[in-house]
Amino acid sequence: MFNRLRAVTAALCLVTAGLASAPPASASVSPGDGLALTPPMGFNNWNSTHCGAEFNEAMVKGIADIFVARGLKDAGYQYVNLDDCWALPQRNAAGDLVPDPVRFPNGIKAVADYVHSKGLKFGIYTSAGTKTCNTAGFPGGLGHEQQDANLFASFGVDYLKYDNCNNQNVDAKLRYTTMRDALRNTGRPIVFSLCEWGQNKPWEWASDVGHLWRTTGDIGDNYTSMLNIAKKNWVLSDFAGPGHWNDPDMLEVGNGGMTDTEYRSHFGLWAIMAAPLLIGTDLRKATPATFDILENREVIAVDQDPLGVQGKLVKSSGGLNVLVKPLKNGDKAVLLFNEGETTGRAVTSAAELGLSRSPGYRMRDLWTHQDWQTANTIAATLPPHGSAMFRVSADRNWATYPPAIDAGAIIQTSYPGALPIVTPGTTTSVTTSVTNNGRLPALSVESTLTGPGWTVQPESPTSAVLLRTDQSLSTKWTVQVPPGLSPGKYVLTGKATYQPGNVVLPYNLEVVVPGAPPAAPAFLSDVKWLRAANGYGPVELDRSNGESKAGDGHVITINGVTYAKGLGAHAPGVIEYYTAGRCTSVTADVGVDDEKGNNGTVTFEVWADGTKVADSGILTNLMPAKPLQADVTGATLVRLITTDAGDGNNSDHADWANAHITCN
Ligand code: GLA
Repeated sequence: MFNRLRAVTAALCLVTAGLASAPPASASVSPGDGLALTPPMGFNNWNSTHCGAEFNEAMVKGIADIFVARGLKDAGYQYVNLDDCWALPQRNAAGDLVPDPVRFPNGIKAVADYVHSKGLKFGIYTSAGTKTCNTAGFPGGLGHEQQDANLFASFGVDYLKYDNCNNQNVDAKLRYTTMRDALRNTGRPIVFSLCEWGQNKPWEWASDVGHLWRTTGDIGDNYTSMLNIAKKNWVLSDFAGPGHWNDPDMLEVGNGGMTDTEYRSHFGLWAIMAAPLLIGTDLRKATPATFDILENREVIAVDQDPLGVQGKLVKSSGGLNVLVKPLKNGDKAVLLFNEGETTGRAVTSAAELGLSRSPGYRMRDLWTHQDWQTANTIAATLPPHGSAMFRVSADRNWATYPPAIDAGAIIQTSYPGALPIVTPGTTTSVTTSVTNNGRLPALSVESTLTGPGWTVQPESPTSAVLLRTDQSLSTKWTVQVPPGLSPGKYVLTGKATYQPGNVVLPYNLEVVVPGAPPAAPAFLSDVKWLRAANGYGPVELDRSNGESKAGDGHVITINGVTYAKGLGAHAPGVIEYYTAGRCTSVTADVGVDDEKGNNGTVTFEVWADGTKVADSGILTNLMPAKPLQADVTGATLVRLITTDAGDGNNSDHADWANAHITCN
């Protein structure tokens, strides 16, 4: 983003400041100013604390300590960044921002000095508007760019996140370029992070303005939000590169709103997309499972690969996605990701990934840290929301690794990617497959499947003496689902064993026993859903969505009309009901809740199994409620889906007012 002269000055300044890591000597010939040649890695407090009291000096110092003590610094995490609410709501008489004396009694410079003393770098936040985003926030940088940039430089800031709130409709390019120039004028090298949520397509104009730019609205600590953001970001791969990265927002790993399987997918997706890796959880309280994910150096190496290419989607079908990222040494990193609710097999090949022809390849599993050989096929049977990540190379020693086998169980569902529903007192058919992807044969292959005390019987052979390349042992099993089971999740356990190498591959198949479907016409807020996922906070019953905790919304209000009944969602989201073929119609008055002023755009859809049966089109906050009527006759599952209408999900408080279902 800066010119050459600036880069040299910057390098000199760093040396003078005595900081641990100066830009490389090659800065003057590298793209831009030599900063952020790989995606920035570090910490930001926002996702863990928002403006809560625990955001303070002790936290920031504690994170810096943990970065060093736990080896996260050695793993590449470098920046310790402050977000909103570090300053008081008023500037001082000199017009400067004032650090909040309760959170930061020794000021910001003292904290920056502490972070620097650990050989780390320090980041700060403000908004390219008249005020930052939080109601408890502080005056933004609009019109104060140079004064604020000078203050930040005097603190010893190495990274600025520049937000988008209260921007007074001033042109984004102008706002961000003005701050870029102000930072440049300070003479201090400062990574510049544009946080304008992708509203003005910064990927098209910001490569010489900032080192990274947000591509989407804010991430929430839930799977729907993470998935939605990943999908928006992965199509932008052509715009990223050294010194200019797409930023799908900070990590939620460890914050508790997703399972470890989902957090592994989140981290793997961010790494394959060469996204900034900014830890967003309070590491002082993190579990070993959280550290296992964040410290996975093989996954980090994919993110930080010096070639600096963002991974691309090579295929996507039925919710099974394959992303590939070329690496500097010629290897390919591949992420197989199952976004749906049912186990599914994702498949690609060395040829499809663009590897040169070889009789065999080494396929390194970046989560289990095991090496396998493959003839060409790269496949994994993945649980819902699960992923597998491999580094594939045309390695001459491929034959020394055991053949890669992928094993798993698949169950029929009512639409591709649906929850695997089983009904108590009935039998269900499950198919297990064990496929040899190796060049060498797999020998003495055995397949087993057991239920949680249920009767499970094979209907076809469960072993094979030998499986050649691409051959499968497929077994059909009859599973007796006992009567009287209570609603919930149940796990079937599968296993494949083979030679050479005494390999044992265990796996699970989770199935769902639903609650009873509605037996009579009812408001949906009085019916128990099967699952619900929301952009922010929980889905509310007979209230609007207040974004954080259950019950924190208001009376549902669309364009001045209030409703006693309904569901308060936040896009993007899904609310799914088990209807067992017994319901005929869903009706609702849909719209964006008044509580967000004029903001928010949403679409509302109703799906009967795999078919969309109603679509509101784009609704804005200025529009009245739209009556929606959907024929769901015969459906096993009915979904109410909200989307962000393609413009990010800021303020997308999506009301399904008077949502009603007719069943018999
Ligand atoms: C915006 C940003 C977030 C965070 C908050 C702080 O919503 O997109 O990342 O910085 O503001 O108020």
